[in-house]
Amino acid sequence: MSTSKGLEGVIVAETDITSIVDDQLAYVGYSIDDLANHALFEEVIYLLWNKKLPNQTELKEFTHQLTKEMTLPEELLNHFQTMNLEKTHPMSILRTAVSLLGVYDPEVDIMSEEANRRKAIRIQARIATAIAVFSRLRQGKAPIMPNPNYSYAENFLHMLKGEAIDPLEVEAFNKALVLHADHELNASTFTARVCVATLSDLYSGITAAIGALKGPLHGGANEQVIRMLTEIGEVDRAIPYIEEKIANKEKIMGMGHRVYKTGDPRAKHLKEMSRKLTAKIGQEKWYLMSEKIENYIKEEKGLPANVDFYSASAYHSMGIDHDLFTPIFAMSRTSGWIAHMLEQYQNNRLIRPRAEYVGPVKHVYQPISKR
Ligand code: COA
Repeated sequence: MSTSKGLEGVIVAETDITSIVDDQLAYVGYSIDDLANHALFEEVIYLLWNKKLPNQTELKEFTHQLTKEMTLPEELLNHFQTMNLEKTHPMSILRTAVSLLGVYDPEVDIMSEEANRRKAIRIQARIATAIAVFSRLRQGKAPIMPNPNYSYAENFLHMLKGEAIDPLEVEAFNKALVLHADHELNASTFTARVCVATLSDLYSGITAAIGALKGPLHGGANEQVIRMLTEIGEVDRAIPYIEEKIANKEKIMGMGHRVYKTGDPRAKHLKEMSRKLTAKIGQEKWYLMSEKIENYIKEEKGLPANVDFYSASAYHSMGIDHDLFTPIFAMSRTSGWIAHMLEQYQNNRLIRPRAEYVGPVKHVYQPISKR
């Protein structure tokens, strides 16, 4: 047996959800470029879960079901009151909130395809409300109810900010949700599949996946990027700052990728979004700083910017709290996690790899008094 550290290059499943071929990304055969430019996030969720794009009637019905399920159980709101919302990272709150949503879903352990699809809608709907609600509660503001006439993207921003949202922002945010929706067997999706391959439930799978996404080598990178940009502060300081990090052998967050070598196909869309949104608020420096860093790292290390790099300055320009960047990633990726878990259930086998033991052998047990 040979080992592959980090499972690099190991193929562990067949899927017909998402493909990455020659650094091109497609959901169910549809190019990410077309989807990002034209599709509503709701259309993409439907595509991932049904392997086909909805027609107008199907989309209307699906959107209706989603918005109908956005209201949170009263019990979860009570739990939020007992949590230390100001001092706890939102990813920890979200992980706990999804777990609690499972506690209050009477269908949690009913494993039929129909029940799983009903739960899928509830999870996708409520994750948006949960993030918006705990964000407002920690600011001492009252939660805002979802509006049945809004799209998923607009509803989330409205519930978060409590104001009418600029159409450019809604369009950009919808695009960001589309771009983050799925990404084959990334660490959190693999985690979700491992979890439900034991025949555990969807809520457990999402809870586990949120835990995996939280880390800075995965979804947590977007928050670290804005932290870095804020620390740099001014465009002129970008290169000296990065040179020092590289000299100290530190990683630059938002750069590099396990699968993409020439470039992350999602990054160009987020880059354009960042350019437009930073200009809109008259703070182009965030975009210019990012571009300098991207070019430098590409030149010096041959590493491309990934999905987390430009999403940071884009979300910042929308006035979103920095520690909500990764929960927003989770909200979008929930659609992909669910698609993969449904696929796993359909053709399941327990996922149980092996490790090569390299420790000592034949130790003789000594009673504690003799150690
Ligand atoms: N900054 C500087 N150097 C980097 C780097 C980065 N962001 N990403 C990778 N490298 C370097 C490593 O230091 C290593 O160099 P070495 O061979 O001289 O030791 C080499 O590239 C390979 O890195 P490794 O961490 O083994 O690659 P990986 O395939 O395991 O990791 C990532 C992929 C994404 C985890 C990695 O690129 C990374 O940590 N990026 C920053 C975090 C991030 O943006 N994550 C979001 C991913 S979408």
